[in-house]
Amino acid sequence: QELQLNLEQIEKGGYEHFMLKEIYEQPNAIIDTYRGRMLVNEGIVRMAGVDDNIERLANAKRILIVACGTSWHAGLVAEYIFEDFARIPVEVEYASEFRYRNPIIYENDVVIAISQSGETADTMAAIKLAKEKGAFVFGVCNVVGSSISRESHAGAYTHAGPEIGVASTKAFTTQITVLTMIALKLAKHRGTISDSDFRYHLQELDRIPAKISKVLEANDHIKLIADKYKEAPNCLYLGRGYNFPVALEGALKLKEISYIHAEGYPAAEMKHGPIALIDEQMPVVVIATKKGHYEKVVSNIQEIKSRKGKIIGIVTEGDEAVRDLADYVIEIPETIESLTPLLTTIPLQLLSYHIAVMLGKNVDQPRNLAKSVTVE
Ligand code: G6P
Repeated sequence: QELQLNLEQIEKGGYEHFMLKEIYEQPNAIIDTYRGRMLVNEGIVRMAGVDDNIERLANAKRILIVACGTSWHAGLVAEYIFEDFARIPVEVEYASEFRYRNPIIYENDVVIAISQSGETADTMAAIKLAKEKGAFVFGVCNVVGSSISRESHAGAYTHAGPEIGVASTKAFTTQITVLTMIALKLAKHRGTISDSDFRYHLQELDRIPAKISKVLEANDHIKLIADKYKEAPNCLYLGRGYNFPVALEGALKLKEISYIHAEGYPAAEMKHGPIALIDEQMPVVVIATKKGHYEKVVSNIQEIKSRKGKIIGIVTEGDEAVRDLADYVIEIPETIESLTPLLTTIPLQLLSYHIAVMLGKNVDQPRNLAKSVTVE
C-alpha cells in the first residue's frame, strides 16, 4: 500500500493540527529558550543582550512594555515579575494605544517590545516612537532577524521555533521564560533578590518543562471537559495576581479559535459586573492555585457556586477545597508563584483547542485572523 504523506502532514509531526503540536512542544521550547543561558549549578544567567547593557537596564527608572495580543498578555505577566523581583516600576501598553496618545517617555526609560513575529506594525511603530524620544529599546522576539529585532537596540530571542498556528501558544510560554530570566538578572544586579532565592528560582524554572509534560497528561480529562461545555455561548475566566493575565489569555484563546464569547477578569473584579452574568448556563474557569491569594479565590468560587455557575478549577495537585466546590478540576504541579503561569496556561490552551475541534472550526487558521498583523 502506498504511503501518502504531504508536506504539511510531515510538518505537523503526526499531530492533527499545528496548534496541538505547538502546545506539546512547550516543554522542549522552554528548554531551548533557557539552554546555554541559565546555568543552574553555577547560579548564573547569561544573556548577551542583557549583559552588554546591564547598567542601562538595571538603572531604568521605569520599564514600558509594548506589545499586542498574546504578547501583551506575556507583558502583563512580566509586569508582576519585574516589579516583584527587580523592584522597577513597569507599565504595560497596547502598542496601538501607546503610539497614538503622545506618551511620556524619558531618556532613562527602557522600552521592552514583545513580539512573536517581530513584524507587528503597531509594535514596530511604538518602538520607533520610543527611540525618537531617546528611550532604550529591548526586543523580545521569536523570529530571528525580524523587523522588530533589527529595530531594537538590544534583545533576546525566545527560541520557541516556528509557530504556525495563528493562536499563539509556545511563543507565550517562552516569552514568559525569557522575561523571567531577564527580571532575575536585573534583580540580582540591583541586589533586590538574595543569592539563595536567585538560585532557587533557577532550579524551579529548570523543573518547569517536566511539570508541563505532567500537565499535558491531563489531555483526555480536558477533552472530556471540553465536550461538556462546547455548546456554551459565553465563558468567563478568572484569576488573580500572576494568573490574572493567564485568565485574559485563556479567554483570548477560546475566542480566537472557537468563536465563543469569553472574557477574562481579575477574580476580585467579578463583583463589579460580571457576576451579573452568572447563571446555570455559564462556565467559569477559575485559576485557583495554592500560592496566589488562594483563600480569596476560593471565596470567589463560592460566590459563583451560589449563583449556580459551572466551575472549572485550575488547582494545585492535591487541592481539596476547590475540588469540593467545582464541577471539574484540572491539577497542575506545585511551583513558585511567579512560575505558575507557565503551568496554568497549558490546560487553557488545550481546553480551547478541543472545543474548537469539536465545533469543527479551523483551528490553525481561524476566520478573520492573521499570524502576523503588518497593517495598522
Ligand atoms: C496577531 C496574532 C496573535 C498575536 C498578535 C501579536 O493578532 O494572531 O496570536 O499574539 O498578532 O503578534 P506578535 O507577532 O507581535 O506577537
